[in-house]
Amino acid sequence: METLADYEDLLSKQLVDLNEAAKEIISEVPRIIANANSQSLREAMTDHLIRIKRQQMMLDLIIRERNIHSKGSERKAIKGIIEDAKNALSKGASPLINDTIIAMMYLKIEQHEISGYNFLIKLANQLGEYEISELLSKFLNDEKKTHSLFMSLIDNDTISTDIETA
Ligand SMILES: [Fe+2]
Repeated sequence: METLADYEDLLSKQLVDLNEAAKEIISEVPRIIANANSQSLREAMTDHLIRIKRQQMMLDLIIRERNIHSKGSERKAIKGIIEDAKNALSKGASPLINDTIIAMMYLKIEQHEISGYNFLIKLANQLGEYEISELLSKFLNDEKKTHSLFMSLIDNDTISTDIETA
């Protein structure tokens, strides 16, 4: 079993965890996009997918540059959130409930990523890894924007309006 002796190890593990979580989202989300009814929701998801692919490539690069071999475990957490949503979706929900479940899934994923990046940035700053911290701060901003966007789709009744007028 790998040991986490210090903050340096913890930083490495967290980088791998977030990278694994991103990979999980990239592999699962296209099928969910195909399931969404609201045009605005589909657009938000597609846009998010493009951004997370970019983030994942950058994380991969950092991990390779730093020669990190940690295994990571975060995939299970994101897998759980996605599985829960897929279970709910399979219960024959109406188009509105279907899309609300998808939007809720995103809110949970983004919240999870926001916590992860917040922690990583703190850790990177503490270790004097300012280049990493700066890059992760950009990711964090992206996550916050995505969270607000999905929240606004629910708050502004965008999803229901889309479905009613489709
Ligand atoms: Fe995200």
